[in-house]
Amino acid sequence: MTDVLRLDPHTPDAHLIRRASERLRAGGLVAFPTETVYGLGAHALDDQAVERIFTAKQRPMSDPLIVHVAASADIPPLVARLPAAVEPLAQRFWPGPLTLVLPRGVAVPAVVTAGLDSVALRIPSHPVAQALLRDAALPVVAPSANLFSRPSPTTAVHVLDDLEGCVDIVLDAGPTDVGLESTVLDLCLTPPLVRRRGVVSLEQLRTIVPDVEVRDRAIDHMPTPAPGMLPRHYAPKTPLTLYVGDSAAARARLRQDAQAAAAAGVRVGVLVSSADASRLAALPARIIPFGPENDPRTVAARIYAALRELDRAGLNRILARDIPGAEGLVPAIRDRLVRAAGGRVIPC
Ligand code: TXA
Ligand code: MG
Repeated sequence: MTDVLRLDPHTPDAHLIRRASERLRAGGLVAFPTETVYGLGAHALDDQAVERIFTAKQRPMSDPLIVHVAASADIPPLVARLPAAVEPLAQRFWPGPLTLVLPRGVAVPAVVTAGLDSVALRIPSHPVAQALLRDAALPVVAPSANLFSRPSPTTAVHVLDDLEGCVDIVLDAGPTDVGLESTVLDLCLTPPLVRRRGVVSLEQLRTIVPDVEVRDRAIDHMPTPAPGMLPRHYAPKTPLTLYVGDSAAARARLRQDAQAAAAAGVRVGVLVSSADASRLAALPARIIPFGPENDPRTVAARIYAALRELDRAGLNRILARDIPGAEGLVPAIRDRLVRAAGGRVIPC
């Protein structure tokens, strides 16, 4: 049985937060909103509770989890050492959508980190997440609250679609603000490495860690992804093909392929910007716009919901186009689309 507790996103009811934090302490699973996406929370120091997360999500135990805490003061007991960059990064980005990978402290169970000697830590800023972490007074592991490899949940309904019956409580405080996951920065390496692009951009990180590196493995076709960074991730069940490169060429190719597929009896979905959606309106396809291409914030907030909507539409194929740009949120959005395509990327 899953209890859904509705809360105000800004001033959550203390009694409902108490119910959820008591469930966490007792080893239960509580899904809660963060500023990025909904997380599936469990007591990070309780091996059995952590194992329940892997079972509920059908996630391989080789994929390490992020430990969430309320404040910087909660971090020292969880790490073996604090690299010098932590303090300025924390000052600038915490609480907020940055995850730091740090040397693991002995207190953190191996099941949390998939046996790695590093641990990922994050301090979310969402008032509900903050209230829950403070009331529980525990470190809480929280992967995105979706079934493994599916699009991350940005509403409580998405969480229930994937996990109803497998999670004890869902704290429903409406849609999340950002809609894309935190940036994962590994400070155990020199120079530091962005393991997952996310809400905090490379340009923002460079103001504090000028030598930071990033590898867009799925795009560069590099082998051996980092743990959890599998080539097919954040993916709809329906196969998705992504058209990248020159705007006009990509649109023309997408149009041609959509027409050919529809003519062959294939039920086609199209995921593009609002402007492209108008240009392609005559196609015999279900067209879902993800927002204006010059407004990456809106696109980030809508992209996962759009992928889920396409999945519910009974289609055989989805054709998608990315948005132009190389800065801010755009590379993170492109990364998610490339992974949703699981390698079916057509350069134009
Ligand atoms: O925005 C977010 O980060 C959300 C919210 C709920 O906080 N959480 C989230 O967790 O996206 P999850 O489990 O879906 O993604 C965690 C990512 C994975 O790519 C995982 O491989 C990476 O963080 N990660 C965790 N621990 C790591 C470690 N020790 N070293 C390298 N990567 C790690
Ligand atoms: Mg995830």
